[in-house]
Amino acid sequence: MLPTILLSSLSLASVALSHCSRSFLKQASDAYVAAQAAGTPTLPRLADNFTYIENDKPLDIKTGVLATALKFNSNRSIHDTVQCATFTELIAADNPHPYVIHTRIVFNHAERITLVDSVVTDGDDWAFNATGYVYWNSIETSWDPIAAGARDSRAVVQAAGDAYFDRWNNVSVVIPMAVPCARLEGGAYTGRGNLTANTCDIGGFPSTIKVTNRRYVVDEEMGVVSIFMGFPGLDRTYPERPMPDSHMFRVEKGLIRYIHTVSACQSYHCGMPQQDWE
Ligand SMILES: *[C@@H]1O[C@H](CO)[C@@H](O)[C@H](O)[C@H]1NC(C)=O
Ligand SMILES: *[C@@H]1O[C@H](CO)[C@@H](O)[C@H](O)[C@H]1NC(C)=O
Ligand SMILES: *[C@@H]1O[C@H](CO)[C@@H](O)[C@H](O)[C@H]1NC(C)=O
Ligand SMILES: *[C@@H]1O[C@H](CO)[C@@H](O)[C@H](O)[C@H]1NC(C)=O
Ligand SMILES: *[C@@H]1O[C@H](CO)[C@@H](O)[C@H](O)[C@H]1NC(C)=O
Repeated sequence: MLPTILLSSLSLASVALSHCSRSFLKQASDAYVAAQAAGTPTLPRLADNFTYIENDKPLDIKTGVLATALKFNSNRSIHDTVQCATFTELIAADNPHPYVIHTRIVFNHAERITLVDSVVTDGDDWAFNATGYVYWNSIETSWDPIAAGARDSRAVVQAAGDAYFDRWNNVSVVIPMAVPCARLEGGAYTGRGNLTANTCDIGGFPSTIKVTNRRYVVDEEMGVVSIFMGFPGLDRTYPERPMPDSHMFRVEKGLIRYIHTVSACQSYHCGMPQQDWE
């Protein structure tokens, strides 16, 4: 009797330990990147009942951007072993139709995908310039895993991103920004004038914009938090509507080093067609 009990509790323990491991999530994000590269609108381990969303609209996975083969200049993923989720940034500047796409994928306890949620941006969207996205992303030097002894906790990484959004409706919030800090927004880069300065703090943050519906993927090994949310005020034509938006924050020693954003508009360029994004 004893050996059997021992064996079964051992195997249970190993199941629990391997649940949603980093290597499992890494395989999943690689499979997503491969599917989007090939234009194959399916993924391994979809739950029977999963939801596929682009820019806050549920779609049939077969009719979304996943059905179109894209060539990437860059793909970057993070992995959240606690929430069993992945986040991927895809930059596709050299397609006939350029895109920058942020996608989070959420698994259930059976390691089946229940949600594929993307912010898909292209030429009609906020500050969009995929060529700029490729270029500025390529000169960023600090996206490696953070050395084991220097990692922030999940809470600290997430809090840095939260402070950034909290500040939009509370002027008392201090955003923990590093020097240097740079923001890549659609394709525009706040660091272009001075790569060694804190150019995330451009001053003049609004004080009355409450970002809604925050959804997180946190990877403390990478020091990155991805936050999907709704951004009211972004689309000047529909200022009350929270626009589909994703911000990815790289955090080092509690301070924001980089921000990558993609913001989808309802109206052309969110109602700011003449804007000089640079
Ligand atoms: C799963 O299916 C049930 C009904 O069969 C539905 O009510 C629910 O919204 C579905 N959940 C998701 C995440 O699609
Ligand atoms: C994704 O990026 C990795 C390097 O980070 C690269 O080796 C791989 O080829 C890329 N995949 C695609 C489909 O572009
Ligand atoms: C897009 O970004 C590239 C690289 O920074 C820049 O050369 C180009 O002028 C930008 N295009 C527009 C339309 O702003
Ligand atoms: C605004 O932020 C400050 C500083 O973090 C905090 O003490 C205060 O409670 C916040 N106010 C509201 C209304 O959330
Ligand atoms: C860039 O910013 C750094 C840090 O704020 C400052 O020391 C330096 O003088 C700036 N360089 C230029 C060219 O403005």
